[in-house]
Amino acid sequence: MEKIKSSEITPESQYLSRREFLKGLGIVSASSMILAACGAQSASSTDIPTDSPANPVNSSPLPATPSPTVIDEPLTSYEAITNYNNYYEFTTDKERVASLAKDFPTSPWQIEVGGLVNKPKTYDLDDISKFSLQERIYRLRCVEAWSMVIPWVGFPLSELLKEVEPTSDAKYVRFETIYDPEKMPGQKVQWYQWPYIEGLRVDEAMHDLTILATGIYGKPLLPQNGAPVRLVVPWKYGFKSIKGIVKIDLVSEMPTSLWMAAAPNEYGFYANVNPEVSHPRWSQASERRIGDNSRTQTLMFNGYEEEVAHLYDGMDLAVNY
Ligand code: MTE
Repeated sequence: MEKIKSSEITPESQYLSRREFLKGLGIVSASSMILAACGAQSASSTDIPTDSPANPVNSSPLPATPSPTVIDEPLTSYEAITNYNNYYEFTTDKERVASLAKDFPTSPWQIEVGGLVNKPKTYDLDDISKFSLQERIYRLRCVEAWSMVIPWVGFPLSELLKEVEPTSDAKYVRFETIYDPEKMPGQKVQWYQWPYIEGLRVDEAMHDLTILATGIYGKPLLPQNGAPVRLVVPWKYGFKSIKGIVKIDLVSEMPTSLWMAAAPNEYGFYANVNPEVSHPRWSQASERRIGDNSRTQTLMFNGYEEEVAHLYDGMDLAVNY
């Protein structure tokens, strides 16, 4: 379960999916062949998405540079990633999100970026497509104690934030999901304060691991996974990784997320994956890996401790949960 550099090893499944992207670009280099030959671990090639009537995927691969880091664990299958979802705007039933979200329109789409910035800008899908895409293979650890390993395609959020130039008063980033109760039946459930809101500190948002994702397995995101653009913050519980983003604001005060408003004693602002701090109703020490249902130990900061622990120096992580 140790994280390793892609220059040292490239598991076959990751190589194969990467090769799919490169084939789309007409590039399969000699060096990628050599990396594949070194692969020690393989997952079935059925992990690679294919177009099928049951699970149609957009045909054009996204042009992405290979992930700078990989994980020596099998990737979760495309089938599982796209059919076991949390997206409360549609339903709380994970296995029905895909069918309910199937026809949700994700184009045209705009993301308004503003607040404490020098250059506010409204991005449309064409603007978003100008950011250069990278593959990022990350663990996703849900607060409900299940997890996946997902090959995202996206770009660092920092690249977009640099364009709008946050002012020195900006301390937090507030994200908002689309509000459309007619097309998202779950938003008619009054228990939650819609729209879905999430937030990060500016330094968390600027961290290189934090991405805006537009694809999975080299294919554009499907609605159930948060198309057209969603956040991915791999060292935090999955609920921080907000889907279907339409607004990003730089603000001076800590935003109140939908989950903080719904159950403040259970869900805090930080939500860093931490096996030592239990949820009030269950332990966070281990997790169930979707796909093979294996049980695995949860890692501090979801395995990204080396990269992010310094962001929380001197903080009591049990208090700042
Ligand atoms: N974003 C929105 N807008 N609505 C949601 O209900 N669920 C969150 C997060 N982002 C959610 C959301 C939770 S709890 C998790 S675990 C992840 O999305 C799941 O992402 P996935 O369905 O792509 O695996």
